[in-house]
Amino acid sequence: MSDIETLEQELTAKIAGAETEAALEDVRVAALGKKGVVSEQMKTLGKMSPEKRKEMGPALNGLKTRIAEAIEAKKTKLEDAALDARLATEKVDITLPVAPDVKGKIHPVSQATEEIIAIFSAMGFDVVEGPDIEDDFHNFTALNFPEDHPAREMHDTFFFEPKEDGSRMLLRTHTSPVQIRTMMNEKPPIRIVIPGRTFRCDSDQTHTPMFHQVEGLVIDHETHMGHLKGTLEAFAKAFFEVDTVKTRFRPHFFPFTEPSAEMDIGYERVGNEIRIGQGDKWMEILGCGMVHPNVLKNCGLDPDEYQGFAFGLGIDRVAMLKYGIPDLRDFFAADARWLEHYGFDALDQPSLWAGLSR
Ligand code: PHE
Repeated sequence: MSDIETLEQELTAKIAGAETEAALEDVRVAALGKKGVVSEQMKTLGKMSPEKRKEMGPALNGLKTRIAEAIEAKKTKLEDAALDARLATEKVDITLPVAPDVKGKIHPVSQATEEIIAIFSAMGFDVVEGPDIEDDFHNFTALNFPEDHPAREMHDTFFFEPKEDGSRMLLRTHTSPVQIRTMMNEKPPIRIVIPGRTFRCDSDQTHTPMFHQVEGLVIDHETHMGHLKGTLEAFAKAFFEVDTVKTRFRPHFFPFTEPSAEMDIGYERVGNEIRIGQGDKWMEILGCGMVHPNVLKNCGLDPDEYQGFAFGLGIDRVAMLKYGIPDLRDFFAADARWLEHYGFDALDQPSLWAGLSR
């Protein structure tokens, strides 16, 4: 056996025997480091006769490469094993009770969402979710937005780069596309609420580029405007926890409902504070209406057999009103002091029987 083969066997055995990354590094330095055995051998090439060098050069280079590869492979193996060991030992027990000094607070948007869900659950609604990134069909076309109709502009849509076929994905401008997803997949009766993030290119005291909606959808044989109004008025009373809450319906236009309306809540601004159930100011909190026959048809439902109502509620808006938060933009400023002040206790689960927000 040549010297090179013997050396290779020795080094391979050492690499295999290295149990830790540090031990492996020692082997590497001893072989390939400046004064390592392989490096020392390489240095002898210069003093060899040209014939010998022709033979030994490639042989030594081959040895060097194979040893370096073997060390690299062993290193990956050791790293993987170390990670596995860490994953096995470093467990977080999420069932542990919360430590008394934990400071985290629930964001008012999460709180309001939970409260809204609690109210509609008690009325027999299920919760459904859908994707933030939508296609044109679900966000617009199936909702009866005509091609090139200005109603599409109403939404200040964030579009993605066009795909090869020219179609563009988008950030959903409302939670209404989940109406379509549900009606296409489920048979009525349908009674759902859909909480989620929505996106429009807009920013001022009452608009942010990302905001939250809860969509509502009811489809059954005999559903009418009275059900819509009754449901939303009952919701407003329960949510604002004020019996004197004032609501107002104004006629409006949405391509996917007919007739359509917007609902406002009466409030008053005292200094920097917002008060519900008094005053003569109105804030729009939701759009609603009877599901348009075309939308039912687009989802494969017969408009002569089924009717329904839908609404889309701005969660951030109702949270501002209910908790007296003057500027919507603060919701997304990630200011820990703001959250400390306006946030909610993580252990208080909103429910109708224990009280929504204590
Ligand atoms: N999607 C509408 C919006 O975001 C709200 C809406 C939902 C209106 C359902 C009617 C019915 O403006």
